[in-house]
Amino acid sequence: MTSEPSPTPVDVPLFRDLMGRWSTGVSVVTARDGPLDAGLTVNAFLSVSLAPPSVLVSLTEDADTTPVIDRTGLFAVNFLAADQRAVSERFARAVPPTDKFTDLPVHRGQTGVALLEGTLGAIECRVVSRAPAYDHVLFVGQVVRAELGRNAPPLVFFRSAYAEAEPGDRLHLGTGGKR
Ligand SMILES: Cc1cc2nc3c(=O)[nH]c(=O)nc-3n(C[C@H](O)[C@H](O)[C@H](O)COP(=O)(O)O)c2cc1C
Repeated sequence: MTSEPSPTPVDVPLFRDLMGRWSTGVSVVTARDGPLDAGLTVNAFLSVSLAPPSVLVSLTEDADTTPVIDRTGLFAVNFLAADQRAVSERFARAVPPTDKFTDLPVHRGQTGVALLEGTLGAIECRVVSRAPAYDHVLFVGQVVRAELGRNAPPLVFFRSAYAEAEPGDRLHLGTGGKR
């Protein structure tokens, strides 16, 4: 049996730079365990299938929200609008989960998970698959409810910075900066 050739080591800074050139939308993934709301900013999101409607999110194992989803098997994905950059920043902070929800307008979905106001829309999901991937966990969720929100431009993330789309679909892309 021939042994697999060892892969050429990939330059990590180059990999980070390249991945930053993949533009994404920005979402906030929310979850709830009893009285505890948790949530984090997520751009590692994708739609998996239409039949049944299902999605995938990739969360770091050490995020406070990850064990909440593990305990309840439920999460929601809130799609942020261009003018919700402050919401993205709030949910990306390393602060206790409840602090993120202080004075933040939300309504409750069918699953009881917090859905943020002012978004482009949100989906509520039931976890159907959980796969560890290095220091992340890939959750596949079947969509149990979807709601449309504002018809507004999206918040876009590109090259580690926010890029705001304007009506007429013109994107103003950032060229650098940190998360
Ligand atoms: C634009 C943006 C995208 C992010 N995407 C992800 C992601 O896809 N998965 C993830 O685990 N963390 C992501 N993060 C980092 C988390 O939002 C951050 O670690 C957060 O503080 C975790 O919150 P928690 O520990 O309360 O769950 C992202 C941050 C930013 C600013």
